[in-house]
Amino acid sequence: MNTTGTRNHIPRETIDEIRNRTNIVEVVSECGVALRPAGRDYKGLCPFHDEKTPSFTVSVQKQIFYCFGCQTGGNVISFVQKHEGRSFIETMEWLAGRLNISLPSQDVRETANRKRVLSLENLHQFAVEYYHRQLLTDGVGASAMRYLKHRDVQPKTIRMFQLGYARSGRRDLVKAATDQGFTIQQLVDAGLIKDEDRGPQDRFWNRILFPICNERGVPVAFGGRSLSEEHQPKYLNSPATVLYDKSNLLYNLDKARQSIYKLQHVLLVEGYMDALMLYQSGIENVVASSGTSLSENHASLLKRFAPEVIIVYDGDASGFRAAHRGLDRILAEGLRVRIALLPAGEDPDSFARQHGPAAFTELTDKAINLIEFQIQAAIQRQDIHRVDVKAQVVREITETLLNLKNRVERSEYVKYAARELHVDERMIWQELQDAGLKAEQTPQGTKRAKRAPEKLSPRAQIEIQLLEALIQNPELIPHVKSQFHYQDFTDPRFSKIAQLLWEACKDNENVDIQALISECSDETLRALISNALLRRTPPPNLQARIDGCLSKLRNFLLQDLEQRVRSHALAEGSDEIETLKELIKLSNQRRALTAHPSEELDA
Ligand code: UTP
Ligand code: MN
Repeated sequence: MNTTGTRNHIPRETIDEIRNRTNIVEVVSECGVALRPAGRDYKGLCPFHDEKTPSFTVSVQKQIFYCFGCQTGGNVISFVQKHEGRSFIETMEWLAGRLNISLPSQDVRETANRKRVLSLENLHQFAVEYYHRQLLTDGVGASAMRYLKHRDVQPKTIRMFQLGYARSGRRDLVKAATDQGFTIQQLVDAGLIKDEDRGPQDRFWNRILFPICNERGVPVAFGGRSLSEEHQPKYLNSPATVLYDKSNLLYNLDKARQSIYKLQHVLLVEGYMDALMLYQSGIENVVASSGTSLSENHASLLKRFAPEVIIVYDGDASGFRAAHRGLDRILAEGLRVRIALLPAGEDPDSFARQHGPAAFTELTDKAINLIEFQIQAAIQRQDIHRVDVKAQVVREITETLLNLKNRVERSEYVKYAARELHVDERMIWQELQDAGLKAEQTPQGTKRAKRAPEKLSPRAQIEIQLLEALIQNPELIPHVKSQFHYQDFTDPRFSKIAQLLWEACKDNENVDIQALISECSDETLRALISNALLRRTPPPNLQARIDGCLSKLRNFLLQDLEQRVRSHALAEGSDEIETLKELIKLSNQRRALTAHPSEELDA
């Protein structure tokens, strides 16, 4: 559609008049952005990016907004368009409506569409009031009222959430709405009735109705709870319509948004009742995903209001699974995620009712981040001290770490994971790089990095290669132990590890590396051993590789020896001939070694 064409249907003077008579500060506040006076201007937390200190500025004098953090700016029209996700026409209609100005009719197709949507919104508004009245009518809604009372829903909450009741009749709404001039087609389009062979039938009957509003507070659908076990399903919801797309809508966002802004985080629960009851207890920054998993649309919707979501799922297996599902995509939207898990068998409603809102808040305050959650979940599942388990957990969290937008955060998570799993941070970074993270996004890749990867001497590189091979294949330790003394490792850490391995390899039994790790009190050594274990599988020609390492290391040893003989000779002024003989012998041994790598050194 040609937007400038559409725009042109509103006369310039009308646009100017609306703009001139609108105060941007009022509109921004009405859209839920908390502003404080700052000199001549107003300041607040920017709704378009994550920030902790306000850089979003609104100027009364100039009637513009600007964020010094993300460089977003414009006038009141562009603010509403961007913030509310409305088209230009919708924005003008809304701003005009606030001022009681009527707009001349616009583009025919656009108008027809808008009219259709508006009529369905009106129909929903009518249905909400109708069902609400039914609930409050003596003799009609009595059983439903009893049910709500039994669940501790207060009259004030019933009013605020406009809860309703659909009677057992099958044509109540059909009749009431058509009496008001709504058509059967409109009722069908709104998902409120079904037009069947036996005639139009109400979708909802004998159910308590939760009106579902979009984030602007306009009702667009219903969730209907049955009053008895026999009447299934427990919740019947409106179908997808032009007004309602459940992947785009979060229950209670309209009421919660102010509080979400204020607290800078949003609580996400599963059920209508959970959201409603928490709200009633004073915890207002809560929305419900209505049993579906959180979509990317949900995430980008929430991100407009707060940088962080705390997911509070039911303490059952399906809640646990739901907490896992799709979270990586949410991270990709740049929304921070923390997770609070309820005790088994509880949902937020039952928990808050039983333990009080303070206990609930305590629980959500302690919510753990996604990496913690994944690691803790793995710890609960299996023995995290086992190296294969560690490797698996590292692979599991790799995806999550890759999806994090924020580098500082990623770096913090890597540190946390390394600490919890007792592995070397560098190993996790390596895993991330293998999975596609660019090298410059790792700490090693940035100039500021303090901990550059350690540069080992060629000799130490061979030493660690040998140890790695042995740690991965402890059955080969006796073979090496018989030929090489642990004191001949030059790197003191490697020497120490070799000593541990040699000592553990006593009565011809296989060395238990797991046990070795648990017994090793030195953190660095533990990390080195774990790291060696977690490396990719060694090449098939293992024995040759080990023998290769051994011969190279022996060669180094002989060089040491030659060096010592030489310097000794110089210092002592000993017999030159004797020294020469000694050197020739050593040199021959070295040559022999290179020719037959696995040959024993004669001592
Ligand atoms: P729950 O089964 O946890 O229900 O479903 P609840 O919200 O705790 O409700 P009460 O306390 O038993 O009354 C969570 C959400 O999943 C959706 C609803 O949105 C519900 O709020 N759901 C559940 C359905 O859509 N259909 C169902 O049959 C069940
Ligand atoms: Mn419940």
